[in-house]
Amino acid sequence: NWKLTNYIEKTVAEIKEKVGDQKVILGLSGGVDSSVAAVLIHKAIGDQLNCIFVDTGLLRKNEGKKVMENYGKHFKMNIKMVDASERFLSKLSGIGDPEEKRKIIGNEFVYVFDEESKQIEGAKFLAQGTIYPDVIESQSVKGPSAVIKSHHNVGGLPEEMDFQLLEPLRELFKDEVRKVGEELGIPHELVYRHPFPGPGLGIRVLGEVDAEKVRILQEADDIFIEELYKNDLYEKVSQAFVVLLPVKSVGVMGDERTYEYTAVVRSANTIDFMTATWSRLPYEFLDTVSSRIINEVRGINRVAYDISSKPPATIEWE
Ligand code: XMP
Repeated sequence: NWKLTNYIEKTVAEIKEKVGDQKVILGLSGGVDSSVAAVLIHKAIGDQLNCIFVDTGLLRKNEGKKVMENYGKHFKMNIKMVDASERFLSKLSGIGDPEEKRKIIGNEFVYVFDEESKQIEGAKFLAQGTIYPDVIESQSVKGPSAVIKSHHNVGGLPEEMDFQLLEPLRELFKDEVRKVGEELGIPHELVYRHPFPGPGLGIRVLGEVDAEKVRILQEADDIFIEELYKNDLYEKVSQAFVVLLPVKSVGVMGDERTYEYTAVVRSANTIDFMTATWSRLPYEFLDTVSSRIINEVRGINRVAYDISSKPPATIEWE
């Protein structure tokens, strides 16, 4: 694709020119935007790019391992993985309010990132995967979703960090970011991943969060996503995940009475994430997902499917 190749060449040249022989720091999340930004910058300046990947303990199953394999091994990028899960979990302990959880996670992320970036001596630039819709959304008139749920990954630079910003995707829409990503050689599956919220599983374990609930949710979510891929449905829905309710119900397993948590399977179709409908997934498929989750995940004995549209519901539950 001529236009994309041109864009990449032009941007790589601009990055080289701007950065010179300075160091750049980038917070890699594993999501599409930060990954494409990282690969693009890496193409321009190689090892002058220092990526920091913060494992909040609130990521999907094996997410940290996958990120290190894909970007560390495959692209040979310089990535420091920081395991901060205990910090996040202890800060969240006893907190059930969604907005409070979001604030705690957002703040903690900034602290950890700040500490780690100070270890990288002489870094002049901070790179971010900001894309055009983020630029629009963060310009004073915020959309209703920004008020209802505080987003923390836009404009989250603490004042005292004095870096120059490097935002090579600022002019691109999501579909263009994906095309650039594929053109740069990032595998299709990674480039077409569903969005994942900054606060992660911290807002998908409803109410109070602990390590055991996060583990249960990771297992259930992984089964749902695996089945979506297996049945060629993953890219037919816009966002899909499992939510863990703090509600226990009675069930029966063999001759045993069980009393365990309820999982909710959520899948939404949307163009802009401002409005959405629930995905009309086939009954047979839902049956497979439900049976697998109940049989394979210790701690869940009931699965419900969310049939709420946005509005008035939101895509996430918190
Ligand atoms: P809602 O639940 O508001 O979500 O319908 C709309 C989209 O935004 C994502 N989302 C977030 N993304 N930080 C993010 O980066 C956040 O705090 C956050 N909250 C919601 C959500 O996953 C969906 O794609």
